[in-house]
Amino acid sequence: MTARTASVRVPATSANLGPGFDTLGLALSVYDEVDVTALPAGELEIEVTGTGSAEIPRDESHLIARTIRYCFEAVGRTAPGLRIVARNGIPHGKGLGSSGAAVAAGVLAAKGLLAGDAELTDTDLLRLATELEGHPDNVAPALFGGLTIAWTENGAPRHKKLLVHRGVAPLVFVPDRTMSTSTARSVLDAEVSREDAVFNVSRSALLIAALTQSPDLLLSATEDKLHQERRGAQMPETFALVGALRERGFAAVVSGAGPSVLVLADGPGARLEAARVAEEAAGSWQPLMLAVDFLGGTVKLT
Ligand code: HSE
Repeated sequence: MTARTASVRVPATSANLGPGFDTLGLALSVYDEVDVTALPAGELEIEVTGTGSAEIPRDESHLIARTIRYCFEAVGRTAPGLRIVARNGIPHGKGLGSSGAAVAAGVLAAKGLLAGDAELTDTDLLRLATELEGHPDNVAPALFGGLTIAWTENGAPRHKKLLVHRGVAPLVFVPDRTMSTSTARSVLDAEVSREDAVFNVSRSALLIAALTQSPDLLLSATEDKLHQERRGAQMPETFALVGALRERGFAAVVSGAGPSVLVLADGPGARLEAARVAEEAAGSWQPLMLAVDFLGGTVKLT
């Protein structure tokens, strides 16, 4: 194989958006950047800087390295050795899709390294990333950008990307503490009532309209009965901040599996007002005023 470097950039993502559990996701303008160079087989060099870099393994268990190998095996090729240089901007363990971003970066890097030998289509990228991540709601926006609806059909993940209304102004409050997604999933009910299912179906449908056409409907459209309340005991400060913001009329939700809080403000003025609410709330919160990323993950070859 010709020695080459795949330079990848992937956005942070916020999944669920309230009612759209395991389905809706939004790409946000915080990024991980990774350069992956093919080396002679068996070699592995990993450099990581930036957010959370101290906790990242530098061995075969590194998620981007594992993902690249998985993709090569999927197309019947032997993975080369790898030099991975990662500059992380996405906070880890905060509900902003850091593991989904690493998996998206890995499949995009594999696409770059395989170019000219085997093709990975967008369908392949989403399938491979979902197989590794377990659910498609973070990897779909990390790969494709914008607002994504992700679903599984005949066992395969699919997605639809939508443009977000330009009046929607995202704000994320990031706390000091972290939350493991598997812990946050372990407290969820295996069954839900028909009443609660209908409640979330109605709000999810409304949320698509609110995010694409009618931001004035965002408060009603972000109501949820499937997951957030059950997770409240694990992250009481998150739950309290979501409640305080919603009482004041802001469309606040738990970002992904938490513990960050996402506010979908209906304009920059409302977003500034929402930022002030966290100053009086319990806990320490870093506010991030972000844009919706419409590009999604990118890969360039050098
Ligand atoms: N839909 C996922 C969850 C997002 O809420 O568990 C976090 O990976």
